[in-house]
Amino acid sequence: LDNGLALKPTMGWLHWERFLCNTDCDMDPDNCISERLYMQMADVMVKEGWKEAGYEYVCIDDCWPSHQRDAQGRLQADPKRFPGGIKKLADYVHSKGLKLGIYSDVGDKTCAGYPASRGYYEIDAQTFADWGVDLLKFDGCNMNWTLLGSGYIEMSKALNKTGRSILYSCEWPLYEWPYRQPNYTAIRETCNHWRNFGDVYDSWSSIKSILEWTASHQDIIVSSAGPGGWNDPDMLLIGNFGLSHTQQESQMALWAIMAAPLLMSNDLRDICPRSKELLQNQRIIDINQDPLGKQGFLTAKVDSFEVWERPLSKNRLAIALLNKQELGGPRGFAIRAVPGWKICNPQCNVTQILPQYKEMGVHNPQSKLVVSVNPSGTALLTVTPVTSAFKRLHRLEM
Ligand code: DGJ
Repeated sequence: LDNGLALKPTMGWLHWERFLCNTDCDMDPDNCISERLYMQMADVMVKEGWKEAGYEYVCIDDCWPSHQRDAQGRLQADPKRFPGGIKKLADYVHSKGLKLGIYSDVGDKTCAGYPASRGYYEIDAQTFADWGVDLLKFDGCNMNWTLLGSGYIEMSKALNKTGRSILYSCEWPLYEWPYRQPNYTAIRETCNHWRNFGDVYDSWSSIKSILEWTASHQDIIVSSAGPGGWNDPDMLLIGNFGLSHTQQESQMALWAIMAAPLLMSNDLRDICPRSKELLQNQRIIDINQDPLGKQGFLTAKVDSFEVWERPLSKNRLAIALLNKQELGGPRGFAIRAVPGWKICNPQCNVTQILPQYKEMGVHNPQSKLVVSVNPSGTALLTVTPVTSAFKRLHRLEM
């Protein structure tokens, strides 16, 4: 969507996967969907380096509103859980230098049964703008599929009409796929990112199914991604319970390769140092945010390894080697078997970013370099062609 937003994949935090529709603030005040939760996340994001690392949006998902609209037909937050209201919450989040995301649905009710926007697109867009909201996640439950496209487009126009910059996160293709192949040109013109596939959940099999779906539809979806609009493979689960550290590295690496929005759904108030370090790894974030803005894709399957490659700015290449053999120990992969290795001609510089940072030196097309990858883990590398001009300069300096 050409609204000047999401020129790079969105970075932030979104409550859904970790906190779901927990509305019981009496029993569980620390984890219920309430203004406190977002204020605390915003506080931590500033204090613990998240904002500095690039994470900017604090996003509300389903289950925030009251079951009744107000007398003017406007949505209102549940008064018990959001006593200050959304405007005050937005002010608070802005005072921390962060942005606030909110959630609604194109249909008659949200997936969890709360009031949604059908019949109220303009009113809701204006309400969100008046509150100072910076992002809208727009779900697709409870809607006749033939009306999905017109609904998503109408809301996009309504947001634009408010004059406020509101990033528009859609789920249009996800809800249309069961019926027909979505029109990605129209989706890209309408949304800043869009979910294609089912919800992520806290397990390695969920991550694998998202990667499989993405690889098997890459001919359709990859070319639609670029500055202003991105495919959204759903939230990062890093820091939760279901993934080993190796698997968390795989999610981070592949989300970088896929130019995916980096929306964490975890508890930033209580996260293990290794997960934090991984999520804040600037070298991986730089790949995700690469200014060329091209989405990477699966380029080869060799011996239960998947090779994913993403072209980067300055003629560089990011390579992810995913070891899909969940048996045995670390296995070696010969780098010259990567299809894009062609760019290493006559020479290139290789840097390993995951599992640990390592300068791997200068190589050539016949390189004997072998990279070791854990079961269900990923080695993430960048390859920089060495030009003769660079070499001349280098010799000069030495
Ligand atoms: C379905 C979406 O895909 C999820 O990300 C989440 O927003 C839930 N709905 C909320 O009900």
